[in-house]
Amino acid sequence: MADAVGKKSLLCVPQESHKRIRRLLSDPFSMNSLSKFVERFDNMLCERLKKVQMEEKSFTVLDFNMKVTFDAMCDMLMSIKDASLLEQIERDCTVVSDAMLSFPVMIPGTRYYKGIKARRRLMETFKKMITARRSGKDYHEDFLQSMLEKDSCPADQKLDDEEIMDNLLTMIIAGQTTTAAAMMWSVKFLDEHREAQNRLREEQLSVLRSKPNGALLALDDLNSMSYASKVVKETLRMSNVLLWFPRVALNDCSIEGKFIKGWHANIDATCIHYDPTIYKHPMRFNPSRFDEMQKPYSYIPFGSGPRTCLGINMAKVTMLVFLYRLTSGYKWTVDDLDCSLERKAHIPRLRSGCPITLTALHDEQQTSPNGPIKKMHKKFLM
Ligand code: HEM
Repeated sequence: MADAVGKKSLLCVPQESHKRIRRLLSDPFSMNSLSKFVERFDNMLCERLKKVQMEEKSFTVLDFNMKVTFDAMCDMLMSIKDASLLEQIERDCTVVSDAMLSFPVMIPGTRYYKGIKARRRLMETFKKMITARRSGKDYHEDFLQSMLEKDSCPADQKLDDEEIMDNLLTMIIAGQTTTAAAMMWSVKFLDEHREAQNRLREEQLSVLRSKPNGALLALDDLNSMSYASKVVKETLRMSNVLLWFPRVALNDCSIEGKFIKGWHANIDATCIHYDPTIYKHPMRFNPSRFDEMQKPYSYIPFGSGPRTCLGINMAKVTMLVFLYRLTSGYKWTVDDLDCSLERKAHIPRLRSGCPITLTALHDEQQTSPNGPIKKMHKKFLM
């Protein structure tokens, strides 16, 4: 894995350096720092949803979300807006991601070989950006800038270039597919559970109405989305985007009488999230189950402990903004109800990618000869 994402990546560094790198990477992911992200992401999402709705064609939620989360992350991390550069970086990141668990043979044509080549191209691109920032040719208020502003700090209070570049790549790879898949599952679950969808829309419309016409979301608005937060939680519980995660037992502890110090263990999140002794009717999508407090370690979609997901806040914020724009602006029909999963994917995803067609709520009210309710009945409640 280190050959693909880099040996200084959070995913690969040993415990001693992990703590330091993680601390230095964490600040731009705090809730405070995410407030700019909320507005920028909301703006991007607003435009793109409007565009796909105006085309009046079916589109794949997964592909849409992969692109929008990728572009938003590159904007937040490095302020990249140029479409062709974004496409090139996305292509290379996908190739690196495919190489992460491949057999390490450097023979042309193999996934590993392609991954190493793509990684080299990405590192060159990141290096050029860092040089342009240092020379003063380029300045943006973003994650990269906040890292470079520490240039004059002592070594233990800053990251070197290799650490910055490996972790830029790591965050894109760790954040894009996971968040996009989770957003896709939220659309699927809400489509199958209209009561939850209606309740969510009611809450989101009240947030919309509380704001000046056309205003973008602010971080504070997310605090009034209590039902939406439960929808996010339930989506993550049911979809188990990361099915399991590895650990090494550093100290002695016993499982069913066996002492496992030194063992490599996989924590099976699905098993925990589908355990009927923890979650009543675990296969039922029921956001309201989160009205009650969870027992410790019974809800672990982002892992737990010192290696818990670094992007936890960013992922939640992204999903909340997405649900807000989708449900307060549109209704949708799922155009392919096939529930089979993509084969060979590390992350559970619908093979169809969940194609949908959007109808703007606003248009519904304006164009319906019988008023909004009648038209809604025709199109969605049949
Ligand atoms: C719904 C979306 C996401 C899910 C379900 C998710 C889930 C996870 C899980 C289960 C882990 C392993 C935790 C452990 O071993 O205890 C992890 C680690 C990680 N995630 Fe996420 N993640 C998501 C989004 C993101 C985003 C948006 C980013 C970055 C921008 C990100 C960056 C990372 C990083 C860097 C790690 C490694 C942390 C470390 O080893 O210290 N993730 N994630």
